[in-house]
Amino acid sequence: MPVSSRGLEGIVANTTRLSAVIGDKGQLIYCGYDINELAGKVSYEEVVFLLWNNRLPNRRELSECEETLRSLRQLPDGVVELIKNAPKNANPMDVMRTAISMLGMYDPDALKEMSADANKQRARSITAKIGVIAAYFHRARQGKELPPVRGDLGEAAHFLYLMSGEEPTKEAADTLDVAFVLHADHGTNASTFSARVTISTLTDVYSAITSAIGTLKGPLHGGANEGVIHMLEEIGSEDRVDAYIEKQLAEKKKIMGIGHRVYKTLDPRAPHLRNMAVKLSEKVGEPKWIKMSERIAQLMKEKKNLNANVDFYSATVYHSLGIPTDLFTPVFAIARCSGWCAHILEQLEDNRLFRPLSEYVGEPVGKKVVPIDERP
Ligand SMILES: CC(C)(COP(=O)(O)OP(=O)(O)OC[C@H]1O[C@@H](n2cnc3c(N)ncnc32)[C@H](O)[C@@H]1OP(=O)(O)O)[C@@H](O)C(=O)NCCC(=O)NCCS
Repeated sequence: MPVSSRGLEGIVANTTRLSAVIGDKGQLIYCGYDINELAGKVSYEEVVFLLWNNRLPNRRELSECEETLRSLRQLPDGVVELIKNAPKNANPMDVMRTAISMLGMYDPDALKEMSADANKQRARSITAKIGVIAAYFHRARQGKELPPVRGDLGEAAHFLYLMSGEEPTKEAADTLDVAFVLHADHGTNASTFSARVTISTLTDVYSAITSAIGTLKGPLHGGANEGVIHMLEEIGSEDRVDAYIEKQLAEKKKIMGIGHRVYKTLDPRAPHLRNMAVKLSEKVGEPKWIKMSERIAQLMKEKKNLNANVDFYSATVYHSLGIPTDLFTPVFAIARCSGWCAHILEQLEDNRLFRPLSEYVGEPVGKKVVPIDERP
């Protein structure tokens, strides 16, 4: 007897040893490690290794992983040209999606050579390049030159360097690194599911990541963090928060960065990002953002018993790091790319094509075709 569930809510669609989202306990686990154990203790590159190997690296393995990623940053000339020629007002997620798709054209064997090793190398290459794509587009659209990639910075620091043209402070790089750790994987979320569905047809890795980027772009998924900043800008000051929330709720509008499909008690990533947001806001001298955020979170808890999610505070963190609002979702994609790749590799280990059923609610069968000239 088929089970019907809108949005596949409550349906277990696959097994994974990569991450678990335990909604009722407010817990996120990567390969057996609670996110609270990892955040602040391990680097993003260590998490990349963890997700791709199911264990943390030793020092030598970490160095090799870092070196490999750093050696793969250079984009093909054609992709650089694509980025330079993209419309300046393009959505950076569209540029990222198209550039990753284009990378597939530089790998003509992507569909023929599907060994685990070859696909892992593609995972490394895409994970190394995705941040360069976002940062280069940001510079290109401002008419700035594109600095050569560097091999002496970690993933988070390198992104900030390319984006701004200046080497970030250690604090800024470390903050983004923790944000990357917190965003790297998250069970069968919509974009990861897209990636798994796509690769389950035994298409190539580039196509699966392209699907995932397109899915993450939506405002109910990765796009929510941009919505948070737009909301804070619209509210403008702390004294206007209460009236704004009241009006939005009366009009049955969603408050961005609040609520979660799975976490019903706490999104365990949110407190880490909140702490970073508090510290950075004080440092940057813009405490009003965090004050407004705290009041919104408080009101939503009181009025709807809903909690802030990962996007709520990551918005303030990214803003304080000088990242422009329309790069928030690309930054999410940069971090999540490692998780998507891990799921793609895992799916291919024991593949089964995803093919759910639909419940047909259309007209009963038996209608006759009316000749076109006789139709109303
Ligand atoms: C993430 C999201 C899609 C989950 O939706 P969901 O699973 O349908 O949410 P729930 O079933 O828990 O919703 C319970 C109630 O709270 C409301 N609600 C949920 N999120 C809300 C929000 N952000 N603002 C206002 N009301 C919200 C729902 O409309 C529902 O109200 P009702 O009982 O009067 O119909 C939803 O919370 C949302 O749109 N949030 C904003 C976007 C966002 O931050 N996305 C990033 C997720 S990491």
